[in-house]
Order: sequence, then structure tokens, then C-alpha cells
Amino acid sequence: MGVGPWEGEWPEGEHYDPDLLENGDRRNVADKYRYWSMEAVVADLDTRRHDFHIAIENWQHDMNIGTVVRTANAFLAKEVHIIGRRRWNKRGAMVTDRYQHVRHHPTVEDFVSWAQGEGLAIIGIDIFPDSQKLETYDLPRNCVLVFGQEGPGLSEEVHQVAETTLSIEQFGSTRSINAASAAGIAMHAWIRRHVFSQSV
Ligand SMILES: C[S@@+](CC[C@H](N)C(=O)[O-])C[C@H]1O[C@@H](n2cnc3c(N)ncnc32)[C@H](O)[C@@H]1O
Repeated sequence: MGVGPWEGEWPEGEHYDPDLLENGDRRNVADKYRYWSMEAVVADLDTRRHDFHIAIENWQHDMNIGTVVRTANAFLAKEVHIIGRRRWNKRGAMVTDRYQHVRHHPTVEDFVSWAQGEGLAIIGIDIFPDSQKLETYDLPRNCVLVFGQEGPGLSEEVHQVAETTLSIEQFGSTRSINAASAAGIAMHAWIRRHVFSQSV
């Protein structure tokens, strides 16, 4: 995967990493960022991050978090928030966590006071009897989408403080999809509403 050592005269620009130019760039990065240093890539992403944040509860070392971080990077979320335990399994992130701002909140209370301070709508994503449909809900631009864990789902604490909770319509026999799949669908719903919608 990737590209080999730079051929010919080296390009000019501080964003280029001499080591990558010399040895090749095997990272999983978009073509635009080939041979760029990690710091330069992050700085460029920081100029155009979207207004949504992602949060996921981590009371039992949820294995989905790495995949959520990778998808958040792909859709350019402002930040990813881990609520609960600080440690999480990074394997699914495929190194994307280095390019994504990840913030830890030890408690739901801490998370809520941060979100309120930022003026963000807290939108829980789970199947509760009072959940509205993600498919028809008008997602606010400045929001944080919060996901629960595999077994217990979103905590009652988050359910109570959320502006609303949203469920993703399902049609088969399973009660739920996994949190990482749900996160991908919800992030893309925000993208469709705020990046592609003609009516914004
Ligand atoms: C496996 S689910 C948890 C179980 C779920 N609370 C239940 O009632 O069966 C893990 C997480 O994935 C997300 N999720 C899974 N399926 C979903 C759906 N259809 N709609 C919204 N969120 C969903 C939620 O964030 C949830 O907390």
C-alpha cells in the first residue's frame, strides 16, 4: 500500500516529511496527503473540520471505539469524546486516532458540562421508547452525537440529559446493530443534512 520513495528532485514545502520522501509513504492517508508530515496533515484538517462531535460511552472497554474513531476521522468530526474509562482498544482505529482529536471525560456529568459550555446539542443515539427517527429528524449543525455500548446501550444518565434520542429504523430480526455501524449511519446523516443539503 502507498507510494515508494519520491522520484526526482524533492518538492519544496514545510509540510513535506523528509523521511517519507526518502523512504516512501505507506500510510493509510488520502492521496492529497502523501509525503506530508503528520503534524501538517492535522493542521490542514483543523482548518476545515465539521461542526459535529461524536461521543461514546466506555464503561466496559467497548471494542467498537476504534472503528468509531476511524469513521469520525473519515467524516471529519470536530472531536471524539470517550466517556468513562480512559483506555480504549485502538486496533480498529488503524492509526487514524493520531489525526483525530480525542478527548476523555471520566463521568457523564463532566461530559455534559463540557458540551453545555460549548453550546452543543446533546443528541443520544439509541432505541428508546421515546426515541425519534434519525431518518426524519432535522439534526442541528452544532451537536454531539452520543452512542452507547454493546450490551447495556446508552446510559440512562445520557438519555435523561439529551435534547432528544434518535433511533435508526431497522427491518430485520435483530434488535440492534453494533455501535460502530450506528455511528457511521448517524455521522453520514449529519453530512447529508449539512454538507449536501440544498436548503441550508
Ligand atoms: C448493540 S446497541 C445496545 C443495545 C440497545 N440499547 C438495545 O435496546 O438493544 C449498542 C449501541 O449501538 C447504537 N445502536 C445500535 N442499534 C441502533 C439503532 N437501531 N438505532 C440507534 N442506535 C443504535 C446505540 O448507540 C447503542 O447504544
